[in-house]
Amino acid sequence: MPRKLAAGNWKMNGLRASLAELKTLEERHDDASVDILICPPATLISACKDMLFDIGGQDCHSATSGAHTGDLSAQMLADAGASHVLTGHSERRTDHGEDNATVAAKSRAAYAADLMAVICIGETLEERESGSTLSVIDTQLAGSVPDAATAQNTVIAYEPVWAIGTGKVPTLDQIGEVHAHIRARLTDRFTDGAEMRILYGGSVKGSNAADIFGVPHVDGALVGGASLKADDFSPIITALEKA
Ligand code: PGA
Repeated sequence: MPRKLAAGNWKMNGLRASLAELKTLEERHDDASVDILICPPATLISACKDMLFDIGGQDCHSATSGAHTGDLSAQMLADAGASHVLTGHSERRTDHGEDNATVAAKSRAAYAADLMAVICIGETLEERESGSTLSVIDTQLAGSVPDAATAQNTVIAYEPVWAIGTGKVPTLDQIGEVHAHIRARLTDRFTDGAEMRILYGGSVKGSNAADIFGVPHVDGALVGGASLKADDFSPIITALEKA
């Protein structure tokens, strides 16, 4: 089995001064027994490239180059020092209208640039309340995860939209139900689907991490707010090491 993964998504936060947090994190976790991935804003990727952690972009364009003002290709992220890229984060889906086909195209672009794609899926509150969570997950998995996905180039992040940045977390049973469902779909479709890592994301904190990491088929976390400060992210990494 691949190592568990603690991933931090800084979103549109972080200036060069914030790199001090990563230095602190590096000192505390220089011999971590789990993989650690930081996705800073793209402006900081090259400044992070010599760190011990894996570094990721938060989005990429599906094309390799061209007239796309303001966008970054997967190859550019790799060239700057990234080894991973998030695709299909719910904030991209909502703010930029990205649909499953777009997310799949971006994930294929990541593979072509030798980046690992962290493909994000998750239901809205309305979808959960109407009982359609698992069918939404099925549609997103089928449409966003390319056929070329393997455990070596893909991580799935289950992030219920209503849990992101809200402090609301699904029950452990709810997390377990969705992760088991994703695992079953991955093993049906991919020969190495049993080894593809599935992260939980949405209001993960030091205080709830150990419980979440105890749920079957939770192979790590994608952490937003609590990844910005070493003091907040560090206990999450430690909880994952102990899981
Ligand atoms: P949060 O964000 O940890 O701040 O809820 C998670 C994410 O959006 O990846």
